[in-house]
Amino acid sequence: MKFFVDTADTAEIKALTPTGLVDGVTTNPSLVMKSGRDFREVVAEICDIVEGPVSAEVTATEAAQMIEEGKSLAGIAQNVCVKLPLTFDGLIACKALTGDGIKTNVTLCFSANQALLAAKAGATFISPFIGRLDDINVDGMDLIREIRIIYDNYDFQTEILAASIRSANHVKEAALVGADVSTVPPGVLKGLAHHPLTDKGLQAFLDDWAKTGQKIL
Ligand code: E4P
Repeated sequence: MKFFVDTADTAEIKALTPTGLVDGVTTNPSLVMKSGRDFREVVAEICDIVEGPVSAEVTATEAAQMIEEGKSLAGIAQNVCVKLPLTFDGLIACKALTGDGIKTNVTLCFSANQALLAAKAGATFISPFIGRLDDINVDGMDLIREIRIIYDNYDFQTEILAASIRSANHVKEAALVGADVSTVPPGVLKGLAHHPLTDKGLQAFLDDWAKTGQKIL
């Protein structure tokens, strides 16, 4: 499974890249607002830090303007992936931008039929939002399961990008049901490394090592 980091905070991205875990980045207008940064400037900076796809979302709602915005965003760096909402206009824009060789991430997906349409429109990534479905008492993971089956049935190459991930359990479940990518808030990604028995075991080893009076260097 690939990991994308779901943030527009460049300091957090820089702190995570030495792990080799960051395969890409996703942003959205809310995350850009939270960063307080200029959109184009922050996207360019993220694209310099990370080699993989960096999703930057259009804000137009009509296809023609979405296409124009998408082309403009794609001009920022070769690894920009244009994020488009899963609307009828978004699908038209997805088809056009994909035809121009631009990577696309179709976002705000809440049903398997929406995901089917995005794949037919040539999306590079489909972003089903797990957490927001859980918020309304619908099992978000069922959606990932359904999309996996549909994409495999028809050999669609669109990658399933599990989004709106809120917990380590979401990451594990998304991996178990075959999502290609999880986009994860930085705190959740760091948390995946944590286990209380690791901390306890390490402390015991360090205590015993101190008793030997030795040093490695
Ligand atoms: C990523 O592409 C999405 O925009 C993001 O995961 C949404 O997460 P949220 O539902 O926690 O805002």
